[in-house]
Amino acid sequence: MPNAAQFHHDLALLDWHLELGVDEAISEASVNRYKLEAPASKPKPTTTPEVITPAKSEPVVFDSTPLAQACENLAALRAAMGAFEHCPLKQGARNTVFCDGNPSARVMIIGEAPGREEDREGKPFIGKAGQMLDKMFAAIGLSRHEEAPESALYITNVLPWRPPQNRDPKPEEIALMKPFLLRHIELAQPDFIITMGNPSTKTLRDTSLGITKMHGQWGEVLGIPSVPLFHPAYLLRSPEQKRLAWADLLSLKARLEGKHHA
Ligand code: URA
Repeated sequence: MPNAAQFHHDLALLDWHLELGVDEAISEASVNRYKLEAPASKPKPTTTPEVITPAKSEPVVFDSTPLAQACENLAALRAAMGAFEHCPLKQGARNTVFCDGNPSARVMIIGEAPGREEDREGKPFIGKAGQMLDKMFAAIGLSRHEEAPESALYITNVLPWRPPQNRDPKPEEIALMKPFLLRHIELAQPDFIITMGNPSTKTLRDTSLGITKMHGQWGEVLGIPSVPLFHPAYLLRSPEQKRLAWADLLSLKARLEGKHHA
């Protein structure tokens, strides 16, 4: 049993880590990041000097398109993403969050990235924002737990790994993972796509406009009718926007019922 001084010291250390944003233990064994490594022994001088090629100024972005396009079904895509080692976000994540709901659903929802609960459970939208999302879609008769495609939902995210401290996804992370997202859409073949919030809408609708301008504006993603909706996390913070979100949900309902006239 540690003595009281040790206990308070450890508690203060934990508090300090929380302050810094270290809010998750991602592996059973701890890593001592303060340990000093023994300095590497100096290489012996060689007689002929090595030619050092200057680094190119543009960053080399790995093109994941061939890997994504080679996947012939959703199971293969899930496996390819789980085995993909080119995105540093994966190292800090517990799970690769691939999807939830019914892949035969007419409606596919695309969010931003997993949060803490999603990272733990390996499923998208299961925290507070996810509960809000479920309520929003239940109001127009859709659910991720439904078997019938016409009342079901299929849910994924732009990124399958949680960014540290839920920071915004970086453009290079999105660029790296976008080919997998596009393949995901091609394989799921929904009738309608909902881009949930800013990053998802900007990634798929090729717009610089923010969600407050884009919400409810129908367009196409890979030839499939698509509409941006306010992210449920935003609606939790700004409940006064629920009225607009409801109008957007009703416009989706009208399309699902074939009542939309261009
Ligand atoms: N927010 C998202 O955009 N996706 C999730 O899976 C959870 C929260």
